[in-house]
Amino acid sequence: MYLFHRCHIMSKGRYILLAVVCGAVAFALGVIIGWFSKPETGSVLTDEDRAALDRYRASIEDADEAISDHILANIDAERIRENLRVLSAKSHMAGTPPDHEMAELLRRRWLENGLDEVRLVPYDILLSYPPLGREGPNNTAVTVDGADPAREYEDTRTLHIEPEYQDDPDAVQFFNAYSPAGHPVGDLVFANYGRLQDFDYLKQVGVNCTGKIVLMKYRSGGRGTKAKNAASAGAIGAILYPEPADTNEPGGKVYPDGWNLPGTGTERGSALLEPGDPLTPGYPATEFAYRLPEEEITVFPSIPLHPIGYNDAQEYLSHLDGDIAPAGWNGSLPITYRLGPGFTGDWSGRKVALHVYTNTTIRRVYNVVGMIKGRLESDRYVMLGNHYDSWVQGAIDDTSSTAISLELTRVFGGLVRNDNWRPRRSIVFAAWGAEEFALLGSIEYVEQFTDIIKERMVAYINMDIGVSD
Ligand SMILES: *[C@@H]1O[C@H](CO)[C@@H](O)[C@H](O)[C@H]1NC(C)=O
Ligand SMILES: *[C@@H]1O[C@H](CO)[C@@H](O)[C@H](O)[C@H]1NC(C)=O
Ligand SMILES: *[C@@H]1O[C@H](CO)[C@@H](O)[C@H](O)[C@H]1NC(C)=O
Ligand SMILES: *[C@@H]1O[C@H](CO)[C@@H](O)[C@H](O)[C@H]1NC(C)=O
Repeated sequence: MYLFHRCHIMSKGRYILLAVVCGAVAFALGVIIGWFSKPETGSVLTDEDRAALDRYRASIEDADEAISDHILANIDAERIRENLRVLSAKSHMAGTPPDHEMAELLRRRWLENGLDEVRLVPYDILLSYPPLGREGPNNTAVTVDGADPAREYEDTRTLHIEPEYQDDPDAVQFFNAYSPAGHPVGDLVFANYGRLQDFDYLKQVGVNCTGKIVLMKYRSGGRGTKAKNAASAGAIGAILYPEPADTNEPGGKVYPDGWNLPGTGTERGSALLEPGDPLTPGYPATEFAYRLPEEEITVFPSIPLHPIGYNDAQEYLSHLDGDIAPAGWNGSLPITYRLGPGFTGDWSGRKVALHVYTNTTIRRVYNVVGMIKGRLESDRYVMLGNHYDSWVQGAIDDTSSTAISLELTRVFGGLVRNDNWRPRRSIVFAAWGAEEFALLGSIEYVEQFTDIIKERMVAYINMDIGVSD
């Protein structure tokens, strides 16, 4: 401060001279100190220096192939099979008791397997269910008026799929989560995949969707988006079906004789327009978080929607009136695909009715997060994740991955416990909750820990449907 003051009252020339002299003196001093402080022979390292040097060397060493060989050699397919058998024994839809049991089971097994710590990270999120289990007579369904709703072959009301073990009474009925409840009745229109260009085409050829129920194929877009597009075209209800031309191998046998989807099967799925908890957009759904009033939510489709199997879709399509559907709209059902609206022949005048009894409810859901602490960079994370919730038993989606990651915790945990090994960085195992409802568990977690994830996460590896054919 004093020197600074002096500089200002000196003339400019003197100031420059002083600066040059000071610089020269500092330089000379540096050279002299450097020269005389040079060690005479070799280096003298303290233990602390040596430890730092070892850490540095280890940090630039190549991955130890012996470790990866050990991991590969010790992963046991038989144990993965057994994990899968245990974990897919029950339906474990997010927010139900078996879902919570699975989170607890994973925490216990990961700790037993040798992870340093395992936590259940809770969120209270908005889920959407139809009547559960044997709750009531109001099954979510599609019917054609005049048809007896109890006649299984005319509507997808039951879960009856051979063989018998698929008939689990605890399996949730077919539904699209976050569909509004409702009972629209109207003439049917076929709208291909329900994309904007499909509705443009219908408009062009004079098919008016106002007040209609629209039948659409799954694929080529989200379920909620299809319903949204249908609603924009004026429709009051939406039905989705898996077109066998898209899901089934031509000439292949249907399950259980082969891999192809049977005509009584369909796809449960979420119709949320944006992923994450609808009540806490952009911030985590922790216990005391502010929650939007439901009337302010904009991520629900505005009209009821429901999935059916292709046997029923074939029945409806085969009776449709109107023009023949254009090239590209056809599937592989043995019928002429038409656009509607409405039915013809002996179905003339009959309407299609949707019976949707979904209801939303806030439920607690857990992410299971476990860690093996790193040796050198414990504050850098390599994360391996998969979701553990399923609509039903979910042997493929995604219990296959849960079974694999459980075996990985055994092999990695064994290395830590028995061989005194540690990874360079921390390894984090994550089992996400409520993925099927639109990535709710993982999104809330990222919303809560955004800064840590941005600063410290080195890599994230996701597993979903951990199978090969
Ligand atoms: C079933 O639906 C009918 C008509 O909407 C309603 O009156 C009845 O209360 C419902 N029953 C149950 C158990 O929800
Ligand atoms: C479609 O139908 C609705 C209801 O019948 C009608 O109000 C509307 O004008 C129709 N749109 C066109 C383009 O014909
Ligand atoms: C679709 O089916 C109609 C008749 O059912 C047929 O004329 C047309 O060639 C088919 N288009 C395609 C692309 O298969
Ligand atoms: C929907 O769920 C809420 C609680 O989440 C409940 O109060 C309401 O009665 C339910 N409605 C129906 C129709 O079941």
